Amino acid sequence: MSGPRTLGIESSCDETSVAVLDGDGSVEINLLASQIAAHAPFGGVVPELASREHLKALPKLVAAALERASGDPELVAVTAGPGLVGALLVGIRFAAAFAWGRRLPLVAVDHLEGHLESPFLSLTGERARPAAERVLALVASGGHSSWYLMGGGERPERLGRTRDDAAGEAFDKVAQVLGLPYPGGPVVDRMARRGTQTAVPLPLPRLKDAPFDFSFSGLKSAAIRWIREHGLEGRGGSEPPQEVYDLLASFELAVVDQLLRPLPELAGLHRPRLLTVSGGVAANRLLRRRLEAAGKELGIETLLPPSELTTDNAAMIARAGQVAFARGERHDPRRLDARPRRAWQPPGMRTSR
Ligand code: KG4
Ligand code: ZN
Repeated sequence: MSGPRTLGIESSCDETSVAVLDGDGSVEINLLASQIAAHAPFGGVVPELASREHLKALPKLVAAALERASGDPELVAVTAGPGLVGALLVGIRFAAAFAWGRRLPLVAVDHLEGHLESPFLSLTGERARPAAERVLALVASGGHSSWYLMGGGERPERLGRTRDDAAGEAFDKVAQVLGLPYPGGPVVDRMARRGTQTAVPLPLPRLKDAPFDFSFSGLKSAAIRWIREHGLEGRGGSEPPQEVYDLLASFELAVVDQLLRPLPELAGLHRPRLLTVSGGVAANRLLRRRLEAAGKELGIETLLPPSELTTDNAAMIARAGQVAFARGERHDPRRLDARPRRAWQPPGMRTSR
């Protein structure tokens, strides 16, 4: 696919990001201003603080991106939801004004469709690989955990999802109870390497009526109960006892097992040509290894996103914008509004947040 050089803007949660992609989907620029330090004292994202930080960062990042880009953008892509409404509006109004002022087409992007495109981005200057026909794709982030069928220029169709917490949210919560810094996922990933995966028995609930859905709240509660029963609350920080490492290794394995449980049956049903994973949790090393191993066993090629493009970034939004633009989508800059709760078009993309 060769399309327009695209400016991407992402501001749905706690990262402000601006990217420029060339017409072949290769990433020219991907700038990020993380708000993690601003939210860290609160143990989670504070919406009002997020909006203000986006307002501060966005104009500077756009100016820096334009200065470094090898040409002017021909298309503007912006995240319109799901996410925090105030945070989304900062990006949307900026993108709309930019597109209007320069008479450029504007495409609103669903944040999840952005994540789904991240494995197909090229950081090396080569032509990005287009989503092949029939891709079975897992998105696991701080707000979402779902399986999709995507590819061939069609909108992704959701096949299964978490009924309660997202995988990243479960990692963050367990880490918080142990007194570990926010976000917990990367810390759990590091600490779990020093623990025994079979040390702590944790439940792996199955949902009888929905074979492709999963749940993390029971697992999370069991882990937190175990932490409290063993007097380990807040003990993750300096020189934690071995039991903390063991709990984290067992918990990480249980989360990964839960995410991958529907895979063999979904693969049998949909016969995909490619397996992918995206979203912040896609940086998790155990998940990446296990998905590759499962792909080998099923005889399906696995495509992993570069680790630096797993968390929220504007390169993936620009890419999803190019795909949507090629499908014929355009949005009116005067009327585009945030969709904080769910995607605005196909029922398959609806989410609970
Ligand atoms: O996609 P993302 O940046 O934001 C959302 O859209 O939610 O995902 C952030 C989530 C956080 O919950 C974080 O703890 C988790 O991704 N995460 C990880 C790892 N890196 C980030 N979880 C497990 N292992 C990691 N290495
Ligand atoms: Zn995300």
